[in-house]
Amino acid sequence: MRYLVTGGCGFIGSHLADALIAAGHAVRVLDDLSTGRLENLAPGAEFIRGSVADAGTVRAALDGADGCFHLAAIASVVRCEEDWGGAHATNLGGAIAVLQAARQRRLPVVYASSAAVYGNAAPVPASESSPAVPISAYGADKLGCEHHAAVGTASFGIPTLGLRLFNVYGPRQDGASPYSGVISAFCARLSRGAPITIWGDGRQTRDFVYVRDVVAAMQAGMARLTAAAGLPRVINVCTGRTVSVLDLARTLAPLCGARLVIDYRPARTGDIAASCGDPALLRSALDLVAETPLAEGLRHTVARASLAA
Ligand code: NAD
Ligand code: UD1
Repeated sequence: MRYLVTGGCGFIGSHLADALIAAGHAVRVLDDLSTGRLENLAPGAEFIRGSVADAGTVRAALDGADGCFHLAAIASVVRCEEDWGGAHATNLGGAIAVLQAARQRRLPVVYASSAAVYGNAAPVPASESSPAVPISAYGADKLGCEHHAAVGTASFGIPTLGLRLFNVYGPRQDGASPYSGVISAFCARLSRGAPITIWGDGRQTRDFVYVRDVVAAMQAGMARLTAAAGLPRVINVCTGRTVSVLDLARTLAPLCGARLVIDYRPARTGDIAASCGDPALLRSALDLVAETPLAEGLRHTVARASLAA
């Protein structure tokens, strides 16, 4: 098959492109390299540099493809708060551009939604039928993507699947930016002996899912969409287990060979207090379990980060 992967030079997208090529598929990547890197591009993938918010670029990128994995987005909740309109243009505008381009040939689209859609309203663990009341601009746009995808399916017959990814981690996640995900940010600082920053009291919890398990869910989702197997419109990709940010720091410090020094700062706006997903639908609909234990995933992540340093 020939697939377009938007955001394929980023953290998750590059792992997905590698896996698709290893499975014998042809891959084209559309990325503007705003947070992604060309060195992440899967060997053998075709590359188009451009914005997913540009309808013409997306149409051309989907030409000849059998399906689209849509991952391009501004992934940082904080950056989306800082540039509300710009983030909206990419995060919701990009998804609409993809759906519009997929519409004529009814191409299957698997896209990255987020646990951020739940906000603080859902019970813990949150299931797909729990209330989705986002508390960040980022979460609101991801929920918007889900609504537009539902319209694309109901009105235009586009097969879509939204994966509500919880906190994804693994090698290649950029730890160097102020917008980095917590595990990569902590690893980067601990490995050079610097203090880490904790926003709030560190008791906020997250459900961390290893990138290999996310890639497996994306591939399984596309296979089922292509086979026209009945699927729910959104599925959590999570483990059902959580750890607090403070406990995460305490686990990572010895793995990085560092002494833990914490600089506490006020909690960030839009920051969810307790995020944990119910993985039951992942198991029943895609026959998958996000099985990588946190300790094992963290060991791989730290080992690969120190090899790259
Ligand atoms: P990332 O920043 O590493 O990857 C995003 C990629 O999209 C980058 O390569 C970037 O250059 C590209 N991009 C950004 N804006 C673009 C635009 N306008 N046009 C084309 N390309 C553009 O982030 P990631 O962690 O790999 O996230 C991938 C997807 O998964 C995003 O949609 C994100 O919202 C979603 N997601 C991530 C997590 C997580 O924990 N990392 C959890 C839930 C959902
Ligand atoms: C992350 C993802 C987002 C995804 C969501 C799903 C990134 C950058 N963000 O958002 O794309 O949709 O999960 O749940 O990948 N923290 C610190 N110190 C730091 C960094 C973070 O204390 O140096 C705290 C944050 O305040 C937050 C927690 O750690 O409470 C997680 O933060 P972060 O990794 O940025 O992820 P989310 O905001 O959960």
